[in-house]
Amino acid sequence: MLKIAEEWTDYKLIDAGSGEKLEQWKNVILRRPDPQAIWPVEDWRMWNKADAVYHRSAKGGGSWEYRKQFPESWTISYKNLRFKVSPTGFKHTGLFPEQAVNWDWMGDLIRSHADEEIRILNLFAYTGGATLACAEAGAAEVVHVDAAKGMVEWAKENRDLSRLQEKKIRFIVDDCLKFAEREKRRGRTYHGIIMDPPSYGRGPKGEMWKFEKDIVPFLKSCLEILDEHALFVLINGYTSGFSSIVLEGLMKTVILPEHPDGRVECGEVALPAASRDLLLPCGIYGRWQRND
Ligand SMILES: C[S@@+](CC[C@H](N)C(=O)[O-])C[C@H]1O[C@@H](n2cnc3c(N)ncnc32)[C@H](O)[C@@H]1O
Repeated sequence: MLKIAEEWTDYKLIDAGSGEKLEQWKNVILRRPDPQAIWPVEDWRMWNKADAVYHRSAKGGGSWEYRKQFPESWTISYKNLRFKVSPTGFKHTGLFPEQAVNWDWMGDLIRSHADEEIRILNLFAYTGGATLACAEAGAAEVVHVDAAKGMVEWAKENRDLSRLQEKKIRFIVDDCLKFAEREKRRGRTYHGIIMDPPSYGRGPKGEMWKFEKDIVPFLKSCLEILDEHALFVLINGYTSGFSSIVLEGLMKTVILPEHPDGRVECGEVALPAASRDLLLPCGIYGRWQRND
């Protein structure tokens, strides 16, 4: 299934093409590379309105060229959530807006099981979009794990901006695989597990993560801490070359045999372009959800 993030008011994908995307983040227009947008741009005029442009460097990485003055960071809203947005050296802004489709899905599931105590584990949790969506929806506890201290600090800022300080959220800087194994030894279980693994990554002590090599043992470890009354599992994927059918295969072979009381659904996530009838693909998702 295709999930299109179309309920934003503070964010808009204005256009995409010729290897780039043009986005409006509240009052700021950013232009940055996007390897998926290989079709041509039809009208370059709107692209000249960009307030900052990210240029790739031939040596790797890149930098922002600022064409207008704007604050180093600012806040955008998605429904009841607030996020700090800031152009970073790695062309990121601190938020993946297409993930809103998953925030809504998890939030709705948690809200519709308000009579249950739901503990959530968010792995590779970045700046906390999913963490906050679950906390706001009423999860009893959310555990947020990321290897990067800076990202965990950013997630805390987002919690404060979203006024969710009263919610039980544990922020942890750790390697996700090591954390999952430790939780197993402690006998802890979760009713929802979210994982947003990158193609390549590093834990805080330099632990290497490679999607195709590590995902199966990692999923198996996560299964050991998935509660027998679990509500959902979400895997996001960004690894180019992998279809969502790969996630379907993983979930059907690893999760479903242990949790046959649920169903698997997989597909792509995309952002709609505001200026023409186009979608920008932004990755894949695999969802297991308990049958009611
Ligand atoms: C693709 S981003 C996640 C995007 C995020 N879930 C969202 O939608 O906003 C990947 C994150 O994984 C973290 N990471 C990479 N390798 C890791 C590891 N071995 N253990 C823990 N976190 C890791 C990075 O620090 C980064 O924040």
